[in-house]
Amino acid sequence: MDIEEIFQNNQKWVQSKLNSNPDYFKNLSTGQKPDILYIGCSDSRVTAEEIMGVQPGDVFVMRNISNMVSNLDLSAMSVITYAVRILKVKHIVICGHYGCGGVKAAMQSEDLGILNPWLRNIRDVYRLHQKELNQLSDADQKYRRLVELNVQEQCINVIKTADAQLAIRNGTLAIHGWVMDVASGKLIDLKIDFEKLLKDIMEIYHLDAEKTR
Ligand code: CO
Repeated sequence: MDIEEIFQNNQKWVQSKLNSNPDYFKNLSTGQKPDILYIGCSDSRVTAEEIMGVQPGDVFVMRNISNMVSNLDLSAMSVITYAVRILKVKHIVICGHYGCGGVKAAMQSEDLGILNPWLRNIRDVYRLHQKELNQLSDADQKYRRLVELNVQEQCINVIKTADAQLAIRNGTLAIHGWVMDVASGKLIDLKIDFEKLLKDIMEIYHLDAEKTR
């Protein structure tokens, strides 16, 4: 990919937007009010906006290796707080994908330096669901299931935050777990029951967010 080509592409894109609406960028510059926070993998094949068919301004996006919501990741925690509290998004989507390199690496023993603590979060997902995963004899099936379970666990990590708990209780926020099948291009809804997940983890993770705000 030629870097110069990107600026030519950008010029063409600007022109095509202006052709369909001369005020396109004027309107875009007035501010953002996205309804969705999308948390996905950095994988170059899983382009957030393109696979959803959405436009600039529609979706607040965070991407990292294997779509993780790590409790100690200041970036992830800030993105969730900003999206829920300030932007007041109605949906948070965790989108994983089959063929995820991070998930694959977490299933292997190679020492990857600074990647180790990041991937350890995925190994923790494996350990949590070890019984189910070890029943799958087919390695590819196990890999695909771990991708799905990782999405589910990251949905739970979103629900652990005070902001998400409050918004779910108020009925203003829904959490979704999706997987993109890179081999077909299709998005699969894992139909995560986030209200049940919230109930299930309340004994340990409940935060009285409404009392402090
Ligand atoms: Co990935």
